[in-house]
Amino acid sequence: MVAANWAPDSWKQAEARQMPHWPDADALAEAERELASYPPLVFAGEARNLKADLARVAQGKAFLLQGGDCAESFAEFHPNNIRDTFRVILQMAVVLTFASKLPVVKVGRMAGQFAKPRSGETEVQGDVELPSYRGDIINDIGFTAEGRVPDPKRMVKAYSQSAATLNLLRAFASGGYANLQQVHAWTHDFMGRSPWAAQYRDVANRIGEALEFMAACGIDADSVPQLKTASFYTSHEALLLPYEQALTRQDSLTGDWYDTSAHFLWIGDRTRFEGSAHVEYLRGVGNPIGMKIGPSTDADTLLRLLDTLNPAREAGRMTLISRFGYDKIESGLPPLVRAVEREGHPVVWSCDPMHGNVVKAANGYKTRPFERILAEVRGFFAVHRAEGSFAGGIHAEMTGQNVTECTGGAVAVSEIDLADRYHTHCDPRLNAAQSLELAFLLAEMLNQELQERRKAAA
Ligand code: PEP
Ligand code: CO
Repeated sequence: MVAANWAPDSWKQAEARQMPHWPDADALAEAERELASYPPLVFAGEARNLKADLARVAQGKAFLLQGGDCAESFAEFHPNNIRDTFRVILQMAVVLTFASKLPVVKVGRMAGQFAKPRSGETEVQGDVELPSYRGDIINDIGFTAEGRVPDPKRMVKAYSQSAATLNLLRAFASGGYANLQQVHAWTHDFMGRSPWAAQYRDVANRIGEALEFMAACGIDADSVPQLKTASFYTSHEALLLPYEQALTRQDSLTGDWYDTSAHFLWIGDRTRFEGSAHVEYLRGVGNPIGMKIGPSTDADTLLRLLDTLNPAREAGRMTLISRFGYDKIESGLPPLVRAVEREGHPVVWSCDPMHGNVVKAANGYKTRPFERILAEVRGFFAVHRAEGSFAGGIHAEMTGQNVTECTGGAVAVSEIDLADRYHTHCDPRLNAAQSLELAFLLAEMLNQELQERRKAAA
């Protein structure tokens, strides 16, 4: 259904925060024209499949795993990086499915996660003040006056990188790499020291045995193709509206509009307000969408935003991604859950334990202590258990690389270690071992939740 009084550019009449100021209007128009003539990156039918998968999450019948970079970059674009993040997500999904027996809906913060909202318009180093870095799709991370000028050609480059990334992800997902028979091969060498690597090998062995047993019964990847492929979706924050608009296309089957830059788009914490251009844009596209909620969200505004974004109350359309901070979630989330559940809005409740837990280390690095990330996840499950709602997903900034950006974990990263391999272009990410550890702890909490639900239903 096409939204009333909406057009791909109707956001221009609303308040657009966090948008760069391109000095060269002709160059911007040229980049937009170019992008508008390019092929869509995803198809409407795929976005609808994801919406159906998310509807199952909303009903408590599946779990959402969304993860990837805080900011993709031109510099870190490499097939190994894509493969490594993809395989940690597969590993996490296996751990979660094995423990919970629920299907896991896998969504990458990949193939388009470039634009970043910033707290300040400018950045100061010494006595020099320059425009803030806003992601490689807008300007350069290097602290030079020239590099910080927004350049529209970067949108075309980001599109190409997204297309190549998505192409590889599709190949991994359906070309054999994601075959469950490969469950052992997804381990990273450098995880050897983590106690969770041994746990993972144990899960992998048991899955291997189950597969052998099924093969003996005549069930294998030839008879059940689902065993050799994975569905994998892409997502990013729909922040840079000229880019999203240029990739907005009308579906020939239904006549509905879709943002074909990714399967799933979300609205960030800084652009989620009534009258926001970002809300206006996303209300008109048929994709499943997310919205960050946090300490600054009040229940009445949230309900009005949900009415705007999902007037038909379609299940799978809305995912609410809470990011309160480990010490605020247990007081901040319950009133929102109560209001949304009372109004009967069908949402997926997902937990972003990253963005409310940033601290500055003594040596100046921005980091996130792993214990706080886990504490927020625990708080998330506790709130949903108390409210009778389903804790349905996790949203993490993570990478398959062996980086040192978040402190803690079983193979502890200390504040001193942060200097070793701190590669992120924006926020600190969980490394592969920390991500796997998170998956095991999540699996435990999810299992507990499911057991209690079953008990209550019996
Ligand atoms: C992000 O997800 O990278 C982000 C900026 O989050 P938030 O909008 O919740 O601050
Ligand atoms: Co981030």
